[in-house]
Amino acid sequence: MPTLPERHAAAVQTLAAVDQSHALKFYDELDDAQRDQLLTQIEGIDWPEIARLIQSHVLNTPSLHIPTNIDPAPCYPHVPADDQTDHYTKAKSLGEKLIRNGNVAAFTVAGGQGTRLGWDAPKGTFPATPVTGRPLFGVLADYINKAQKKYNTVIPWYVMTSPANHQPTVDFFKENDFFGLAPNNVIHFPQAMMPAIGLTGDNRGKALLANKHSLALSPNGHGGSLKALNTSDAINDMKSRGVTQISYTQIDNPTVHVIDPLFIGLHALDNAQMSSKMLPKTGPKEKLGNFCLADNKMTVIEYSDLPDELAFQTNPDGSLRFRAGSIAIHMIQVAFVEDLSTSPTGFALPFHRAEKKVPCIDLNTGAPAASKGADNSGVSGGNAVKFETFVFDALPLCDNSILYETDRVEEFAPIKNADTEDGQPDATDSPASSKQLQSQRAARWLQTHNITIPRNADGQVNAKIEISPLTAIAPDDLAAIDLPKEINPGESVVL
Ligand code: UTP
Repeated sequence: MPTLPERHAAAVQTLAAVDQSHALKFYDELDDAQRDQLLTQIEGIDWPEIARLIQSHVLNTPSLHIPTNIDPAPCYPHVPADDQTDHYTKAKSLGEKLIRNGNVAAFTVAGGQGTRLGWDAPKGTFPATPVTGRPLFGVLADYINKAQKKYNTVIPWYVMTSPANHQPTVDFFKENDFFGLAPNNVIHFPQAMMPAIGLTGDNRGKALLANKHSLALSPNGHGGSLKALNTSDAINDMKSRGVTQISYTQIDNPTVHVIDPLFIGLHALDNAQMSSKMLPKTGPKEKLGNFCLADNKMTVIEYSDLPDELAFQTNPDGSLRFRAGSIAIHMIQVAFVEDLSTSPTGFALPFHRAEKKVPCIDLNTGAPAASKGADNSGVSGGNAVKFETFVFDALPLCDNSILYETDRVEEFAPIKNADTEDGQPDATDSPASSKQLQSQRAARWLQTHNITIPRNADGQVNAKIEISPLTAIAPDDLAAIDLPKEINPGESVVL
């Protein structure tokens, strides 16, 4: 083990080579624990990469590369056409077989900071369901639990955290007895962090310090999950369990089908390396990435980057030509993740730049510094640039990739933004709008069993209905329990 002075000497050299020596400016004032913390952070960063990114993404603004040939991506429809029914039947039974054989793992990315929601704990601890307020981690755990019983199998669950929320996440699982799952089948691992780089004044081009003994770090984006699967050894763990397919979902969507036999089977039948679910967009500018074929490769082009002349294009029947919105649900082959780690370009997913307000100290005085960029610099978005990679940027690296259309009510009730003050669901993608969608889906499932549902004049469900995934992860599962004949207006129901 190198001593602190040895580590300090090495860090001095590393930082000097990339003009970031300021990171150790307050080192002499720190105690040993603080020195260790700062040096550990510095040692964990690829500084030559940061130096390149500062040139390309901070001191210069990267030019937007829009591929020359952009076409809509082909897609398996939600309901198969007549000549596709056999293929869908085959796919579903293959998916079920893979699940039963223990070849499928669930993977949830939960390393984000959840800044928009403003919840002072990992987002997975947020109470999400309409009646019991089951936390997001609990909802996904219940889904996995039910799927394990339904298919008489083990579905290991990999949960990616970040160093900033790892311990509170693990503690939450322990406090909740892993929500009834076997602890050895739940694997938590953290993703890597990236330093925020100053954009204004003397801080321009410098890695910011959150305080004298810590860089201002943030997780490296959900694209970091592919590398973290390898560096954490999760991939080896998967292989030792016979897992060949990874079902990738985010933490913030309580209606997501964590394990979907049809999607798994469509992906596996076509020997795809990484596949995606899509939703038809509600309009040309809905804030979802767009699935396209760019130069013949499956690609997601962010909503802000798709040129208007394409975004607004329509088919002869008036529907949007680019209609496939990304909702961050993927199937990924284990072999594909492994191949990425050994490919000559490594995990070279492109870094996206985001201007953010990052709390930091003044690098000259050590006093807290303003985190607003607009004051004296003309920079409107923030005082810093953060770098993130996005998991969908791995799609163009695939030889095969399929897209499957899902249904909005069925599996998209994201929680991104805080509720409005009156708790009404008028904030998009808020806890209130998610709870309403959860009740709406539950009502739909109950209606398939002829249960009467109370509705307002606008068609909204006039009740809070929560179906625990432990009871049902698909409408048919409800056949196994006693159901009420009808739900009363305004009632709160838990099944
Ligand atoms: P979002 O892009 O919605 O970010 O993440 P967020 O961190 O949850 O929320 P904001 O933007 O700060 O308000 C989508 C999913 O990707 C995960 C999140 O945990 C969420 O499940 N994610 C995001 C990571 O795991 N790591 C990251 O670095 C970023």
